[in-house]
Amino acid sequence: MDTSEGLVNLQKHWDTAYKKCPTEKLGWFEEVPTLSLELIADCNLKSKATIFVAGAGSSTLIDALIALNYTTLIANDISREALEGMEKRLSESDKKKLTCIVDDLTAPKVLNDLPNIDLWVDRAVVHFFLKESEQESYFNLIKSKLKKGGLVLLAAFALDGAKKCCGLEVFRYNTQMFQDRLGDDFELVKAQDHTYMNPFGDSRPYIYTLFQRKE
Ligand SMILES: C[S@@+](CC[C@H](N)C(=O)[O-])C[C@H]1O[C@@H](n2cnc3c(N)ncnc32)[C@H](O)[C@@H]1O
Repeated sequence: MDTSEGLVNLQKHWDTAYKKCPTEKLGWFEEVPTLSLELIADCNLKSKATIFVAGAGSSTLIDALIALNYTTLIANDISREALEGMEKRLSESDKKKLTCIVDDLTAPKVLNDLPNIDLWVDRAVVHFFLKESEQESYFNLIKSKLKKGGLVLLAAFALDGAKKCCGLEVFRYNTQMFQDRLGDDFELVKAQDHTYMNPFGDSRPYIYTLFQRKE
């Protein structure tokens, strides 16, 4: 399978997941993304800070950030279906605070033109990047776009977490593995274990981490 065929298949996989299931029935749905919001509050960002949500899907995090008065949001996903579903919930004036970018985080094209980012948020996305080349490309994108002093929130299945999500294998993480990927230029601000209960009542152990790029 060549890269473009792989990309089309991956887009189809995620578009189908979002088409066949209402947001609140998705296996990763959070009515309120409490822990992400707590960690974002710790960042003390200005309301005009540029916040990039990687693999945002149809996450309620976007609605919550708009409600908190953040005005410069960028949501990415490989699934157009997911982002369109999320955008439909927003009022016309709230849509002006959000830019949506359909692109592959591991083979970026449009994402190469991202502005500099104050906060990068990834919940339940990085663990889908199984190949070394995909991981390297993704962390290089973070490093190329995050401002000095910028923050990165990475939340992924923990080492004792589930081995699959949405029918796909996952690559599980602990804090040190994120630190190794980000390198010495990033300092750990906070790390927290978290057990997420999905809509089917299954527990999903996660590791939540917040890192800051040195000035
Ligand atoms: C488990 S969902 C999590 C969605 C959202 N972050 C949340 O917390 O609700 C994973 C998301 O990553 C997206 N995704 C998977 N691979 C991707 C890639 N290579 N580039 C961009 N998005 C991707 C999927 O379409 C999906 O929306």
